[in-house]
Amino acid sequence: AEPEPLDLVVIPGDGIGPELVDSALRVLGRVAAVDGFEYRVTTVEAGAGAYRSTGRALPENALDRLRAADGVLKGPVGLPGVRHPDGTEAGLLGGLLRIGLDTFANVRPMRLLPGVPGGTRHEAGEIDYVVVRENTEGLYLSRGAGAATPHAACDQLMVTRAGTERVVRYAFELARARSGAPADGTRRVTCVDKSNVLRSYALFRRVFDEVAEEYPDVATEHLYADAAAHDLVARPQCFDVMVMENFLGDVLSDLGAATVGGLGMCGSLNVGADAAYAEPVHGSAPDIAGQGLANPLSQILSLALLLDHAELPASGDRVRRAVESALLLGAVELGERGRPSGGTQSVTAAVCENLRP
Ligand code: NAI
Ligand code: MG
Repeated sequence: AEPEPLDLVVIPGDGIGPELVDSALRVLGRVAAVDGFEYRVTTVEAGAGAYRSTGRALPENALDRLRAADGVLKGPVGLPGVRHPDGTEAGLLGGLLRIGLDTFANVRPMRLLPGVPGGTRHEAGEIDYVVVRENTEGLYLSRGAGAATPHAACDQLMVTRAGTERVVRYAFELARARSGAPADGTRRVTCVDKSNVLRSYALFRRVFDEVAEEYPDVATEHLYADAAAHDLVARPQCFDVMVMENFLGDVLSDLGAATVGGLGMCGSLNVGADAAYAEPVHGSAPDIAGQGLANPLSQILSLALLLDHAELPASGDRVRRAVESALLLGAVELGERGRPSGGTQSVTAAVCENLRP
């Protein structure tokens, strides 16, 4: 029997989102033709634009549709001017999707690719690690629900045993499965926390150590978050897989992004037991929206992660190789502030051209 076509949901999002998603869909069309798989795409309008026109950032029943899909490709969402009556930004889907779909791991590969000006003295191939960020608890659990008066405000950092166990286990499985090796060739998971100061982080570390015993073939390392920030710049070539609490992962992965050519080079996958969605790590860049200036590689590399997840890893690899060839041949040049000098479209065309059987 013919295999069922791949069932993808696409959320174009706000700002540069639609341009980036359009780019990634062109690459998808090309890789599907080369690898000979069928797919269908359902578009769901969600985010700040959707909130403005319908009063809801995410349509009713959308979560069920997203869960039923083989995967979701999401553009960045949010517009600083679109707000709830209480002043907080409307249209952000972070909580709705991460909590709603229980996508507990946010997977952020950091690779310095050829021809990309990194933020450190390292060379292409030297930086190749993955940040696994806990995605459903930690400091962001209290999002918008902290206690506040005009004189004091308090948020809570909540770490649970179950929440930590599942994300740490994901990190160890990833270390076993992934190709790409740190400088010394040792598979390793680094636990980043601040267990010397906060009890929540001490629990995170304790659970990490317990889970690590199930993976005697994978080496472990502990770093405090401040030292990790230092080492991400000083010795990024030593990292393999890193796992950490939500807020630390948010901040440290942007730091990592700066070492591999900026936010426009970084895709991510949010993954849980029943759903997955891929998105760039950056926001909707309203300052350059609609001008064809954005770097679409973040969205294209997100697509590659989604293909891996949908059990098409050869297609994911093909997309990554096309990105690397385009960069290597100089067909993509990143200029000022990580913007491609030839614009969004030229990057997309270069990736499609380099996508070969
Ligand atoms: P941002 O990431 O949108 O932009 C920061 C800077 O990076 C800007 O100068 C922008 O032009 C540049 N930039 C971002 N992506 C780029 C790309 N692909 N190519 C070239 N340059 C790029 O962060 P900002 O301005 O703080 O937030 C804008 C909106 O995005 C806000 O509404 C924010 O809440 C939302 N946001 C949404 C996220 C998501 O959907 N996952 C994540 C982060 C922010
Ligand atoms: Mg962030």
